[in-house]
Amino acid sequence: MKLLVIGTGYVGLVTGTCFAEMGHEVIGLDINSEKIAMLQRGELPIYEPGLAEMVARNVQAGRLHFTTDYAEAVRSSDICFIAVDTPQSPNGEADLSRVRQVAASIGEHMDGYRLIVNKSTVPVGTAAEVRTIIQESLKKRGLSTGFDVVSNPEFLKEGDAINDCMKPDRVIIGADNARAERLVKEIYSSFTINHDRIITMDVASAELTKYACNAMLAARISFMNELSGLCELVGADVTQVRQGMGADRRIGYKFLYAGVGFGGACFPKDIRALQAQASDVNYTTPLLGAVETVNIRQKQTLGNKIIAYFSSHGGLEGKSIAIWGLAFKPNTDDIREAPARVLVDQLLKAGAHVRLFDPVAMKNAQKSFPSTSAVHWAKDELDAATGADAIALVTEWRQFRFLNFDTIKGVMEGQGFFDGRNQYAPDEMARHGFDYFGIGIAPVLAADAVTGESPMPDIQIDATSSKTLPKT
Ligand SMILES: NC(=O)c1ccc[n+]([C@@H]2O[C@H](COP(=O)([O-])OP(=O)(O)OC[C@H]3O[C@@H](n4cnc5c(N)ncnc54)[C@H](O)[C@@H]3O)[C@@H](O)[C@H]2O)c1
Repeated sequence: MKLLVIGTGYVGLVTGTCFAEMGHEVIGLDINSEKIAMLQRGELPIYEPGLAEMVARNVQAGRLHFTTDYAEAVRSSDICFIAVDTPQSPNGEADLSRVRQVAASIGEHMDGYRLIVNKSTVPVGTAAEVRTIIQESLKKRGLSTGFDVVSNPEFLKEGDAINDCMKPDRVIIGADNARAERLVKEIYSSFTINHDRIITMDVASAELTKYACNAMLAARISFMNELSGLCELVGADVTQVRQGMGADRRIGYKFLYAGVGFGGACFPKDIRALQAQASDVNYTTPLLGAVETVNIRQKQTLGNKIIAYFSSHGGLEGKSIAIWGLAFKPNTDDIREAPARVLVDQLLKAGAHVRLFDPVAMKNAQKSFPSTSAVHWAKDELDAATGADAIALVTEWRQFRFLNFDTIKGVMEGQGFFDGRNQYAPDEMARHGFDYFGIGIAPVLAADAVTGESPMPDIQIDATSSKTLPKT
């Protein structure tokens, strides 16, 4: 079967390439001619580990092609996947204009039965709307050819997208007839060969499942972030609390990390879209509102800690802060709604200079972060730290994990270290000479590491009782 994947962004390019890897003939189509020209030259418009090699391999094998030509692409394919962006409208709703455009283009060019499979994240009712648009288009052309519209939401994670696509936890197919369901199952059968991970359901439930998953994951993050603030105030350690919680199999360890808040192209907009859909049917969603409110506050947390620290260290005005990591998470160049952006704005507003570094997101950040003389684009983490009064770790790239912190401390002006991801051992960082601050854990100052460590008192065992007594 010939597959057309419409939209060659993070979802479309990855899924289309994975389909080709499984032996299907795939056309990737985009209205962005620059992107298509890059892909035709063998360059990738996005960063995703392992994707460049896989695209090259399948292009070379003649299974993967790229085009901007709707007419030719729709006519020569059997199944059209929609993988275009559904960003947030000003009122919080999902902006479906691109999905509608795609539906109109398919209707304009199809000349026989087509299966339309929607992978974009869309509110309940969108498949029905796509069907109506195509029907109207066909009517205008005087055609009565049949077609089906199926919902097949995508669950891949940027940074690990190929793995998610090749070995999905589950494939959700929302179809309203058996033929369409069977066709989509057939396409995915090669990805679920060792055990069946295909879940079929009605179209509305499939559309809602995608939002439900993202909202649940975001809620776990906001829950831990809210708890982290309380931990700091009452003297608990959120990393220890996490271990105690995660050991409960009903809870599990995943998505229980306190940090600088969630960002990216999905969680923030999807929570707002779900709220907007609920509001459309006069249903209140206070829990979803709280998930977002906590996240907005959390994105300010690291900046607030830096501002508070420098209020007793000569003020932040004119100070230089290194920021490690600009992408919203590691292994991607995606900076949409990235917490680093909030921090940069906060620090610049307080009069600081920033020294920014990310292993792969520099190009994207340079296009959309403020460009003033107070912003320095560093060539690596050491360059960012050079002359800095403090470092803020925002994105936990692996290459930041094991560094020579004596060298890093040696090139800095100051000694603040603000760890937005609780990546480092606080006492060790203090021993390297840093005043260390994490999220939801007690700060440890360099001065404490040198003078404040009280030795363990010698203890003696009282053999007559089970009590242990300090030696007198
Ligand atoms: N990025 C993720 O991690 C992820 C994961 C799961 C689901 N999703 C969902 O998948 C959808 C796509 O997300 P993305 O991150 O790949 O978006 P993206 O912005 O990276 O890519 C979308 C692509 O669609 C193209 N496009 C827009 N209108 C078009 C049209 N009329 N015809 C052809 N191409 C068109 C754009 O030029 C762009 O290249 C969204 O609904 C998103 O919520 C994203």
